[in-house]
This record gives sequence, C-alpha cells and structure tokens, in this order.
Amino acid sequence: MSSQPYEPVYYRDYLALNSLLNAQHRKSEHYGTPAHDEMLFIITHQTYELWFKQILFEIDSIRQTFNHVPLPENEIATVLHRLRRVNRIAEVLIQQITVMETMTPMDFLEFRDMLHPASGFQSLQFRILEAKLGLPDEKRLTTYLHLDEADATLLRAAKEETTLFALVEQWLERMPFFENETYTFSEEYRQAVKNMLTTERATVARHPVYGEEDMKQILKQYDAVESAFEALFNPEQYNTLLSSGGRRLSQRATLSAIFIFLYRDYPLLHLPFCLLDEILRFDESLSMWRYRHALMAKRMIGERIGTGGSSGHHYLVQAALKHKVFSDYEVLASFVVPRRVVPPLPKDIEKNLLFAFQQQNDSSL
Ligand code: HEM
Repeated sequence: MSSQPYEPVYYRDYLALNSLLNAQHRKSEHYGTPAHDEMLFIITHQTYELWFKQILFEIDSIRQTFNHVPLPENEIATVLHRLRRVNRIAEVLIQQITVMETMTPMDFLEFRDMLHPASGFQSLQFRILEAKLGLPDEKRLTTYLHLDEADATLLRAAKEETTLFALVEQWLERMPFFENETYTFSEEYRQAVKNMLTTERATVARHPVYGEEDMKQILKQYDAVESAFEALFNPEQYNTLLSSGGRRLSQRATLSAIFIFLYRDYPLLHLPFCLLDEILRFDESLSMWRYRHALMAKRMIGERIGTGGSSGHHYLVQAALKHKVFSDYEVLASFVVPRRVVPPLPKDIEKNLLFAFQQQNDSSL
C-alpha cells in the first residue's frame, strides 16, 4: 500500500481562523467610544454572509446541473437534496434574527451614525443571489444600491448568467408525456377544471349563509378565476398576461408544472414534484426572511430612513411582498383539482410514468 500522500492539517489554518477571527473591527472602538453591541452586529452580519456564500454555492451547482440537457433522472435527486439543504439554511437565517434582536434600539444608536452610508443594500452576495435566482430589475422596487464599481461589475456579470428561473422553465418546457393520437392533456384538464368550478359555484349558490350581495361578490371571484384559467389555454390571452407582467412563466412550462402537480403520485413525477415544491419553499423562506428582517428593522429604527437611504421599514415590507421570483408557481394552486376529478391518463402514457418493476407486474399495461 502506498504511504499517506496528504500533508498534516492544523485546525486553525484549515479554517483560516486567523483571518476570520480578526475580521471584527468596531467603528465605535476606532472613534474611542466602544459600543458593546457593535460586536454582535458585526458577527451577525458576517454569519449571514457566510450562509449566503453557502447558498450561492449550492444554487450555482444546481444551475450547472440544470444545464445538462436532457437532465438525467439521478441528477434530479442531487438537485433536490441540495435544494433541501438550502431550505434548512434559510430556516437558520430566519431564526437567527432573534439573536440580533437582543440588541435594543438604544444600544444600536450608540454606533449607528458611524455606519452611514453602509447598508444591507450593499450586500453583494444577496444581490447576486437575487439575480441568479431570477429577480429581474423591472420587478425591483429600486436598483439604486450604492455599490462601488468593483461590486457593480460583479453584479452585472451575475445578471448575464442564465437564471434558475429560466433553467427550471426550460426543463419544464422539455417535459414529454402530454399527448398521444387520441389524448391531449390540456383538453382533458380544461374540462375537469370547468366541471369543478361549476360544481363549486352550485355549492356556493345553495349555501344559506350568504346574502345576495355576498353571493354576487363570490360569483364575481369565480368569474375571475375562470377567465385566468381559460387564459392558460389561449396563446393570445396568455401572451397578453406575459407582456403585462401578470405572468413570467411560459405557457408550455406552466402546463407542465400543472401536469406534475396533478400526477405527482406516479413514480416518475414524484421527484420533479418535490423539486418544484422545494423551489417554492425557498422563495417563501426568502420572503419570510425579508418580512422578519423588516419587523426587526422597525423595532430597531422605527420609522427612520435606512442608512442606505430607503424609507426603511416601509421599503422592506414592500420588498417582501414584491421581490418574489417563483410566484407563478404559487398561482397554480388555484388551478389544481381534487384527486377524485383528476382525468385518468391513457395506458401508454401511464406506462411511462411507472417504475419498470410495476410495469412488468401489471398485465393491464
Ligand atoms: C439592527 C439590525 C438591522 C437593521 C436596523 C437593518 C435595517 C435595514 C434597512 C432599513 C434596510 C433598507 C436599506 C437601507 O435603506 O439601508 C436594510 C436592507 C438590508 N439588510 Fe438590514 N438591517 C439590520 C440587520 C441586517 C442583518 C443582520 C442582515 C444580514 C445580512 C441584513 C441584511 C440586509 C439586506 C440583504 C438588505 C437589502 C434588502 C433588500 O433590498 O431587499 N440586515 N436593512
């Protein structure tokens, strides 16, 4: 056997602790008025930045995998595993805010003025994450972020890369199983939803609890759901939705996603379903982090403007609502039908979605 080829490793050097643990420089100390809580403020931000780095590392690898066309099935499992990791980290990010909140507004005021105009706006990693996920500038409340030239160049480069949103969309657009000579998924599904909405309308109309005015409002909402649903099948109407910004996901990708949601119990669609579910969860977690961070900002600085010049709490709450990347998938929940009315699939399509083992043992296939 050959001798061990690796050099001995020392814990401190491996983790670069000399750099890491000497990277906390309190401005308040620099100005001769040390503020105790500034250490917590710095370390909390640094911890977040380290987690952002890990998330970006995972998202980059996921994007790289999605670039494989066609995407091998075993790689879907790897993507899913990494997305789940990202989601566990996101939980930590949200939870960690309570540590920051052990600092009181008065403690913060001891050093806040020394930090202008530095701000979370300048978190390059956060901006790169938003860009790589696929948050377009048009959707952003502001693009004025006070980045220096070096960071602005890096952000511009990140924006040139294909986003996770686009890669998932392309993957969905390539999905087969939609039709054969006698069957078209969209037609069967359209009819199933129409029937479902008719039944729901009738149930509401019979309900003794609603007065005449309530009933009118409810039925109006049904009309809105129905016309949004009809737009799924009409290319012209769908394009209007796309150009007005009402939707970003292509029609084909949207129908694929619905197909996955409806037939997710088939083995071949189970991983794709879990994958979409984790992506949605991450989008939600980021919004939750944004909202939680907005509440913390309110608790710390009230209605003051941010050090980055935004309106502070108000901006952060609006960003939590608007800076979502995968909201197209959220909307699809309105168009999902109960299992009992999911249209059955033709045998030849069904066969492709089962485990090979199951196919061999089912004589009807
Ligand atoms: C005392 C604690 C904190 C307060 C009062 C606070 C306040 C704010 C405010 C007011 C903004 C809006 C931009 C501006 O005008 O400056 C902002 C943005 C931001 N902050 Fe914080 N923050 C705090 C802690 C943190 C921590 C621990 C992180 C972790 C990295 C963080 C990350 C961010 C990010 C990424 C943004 C940009 C958000 C966006 O544009 O959507 N903040 N923060």
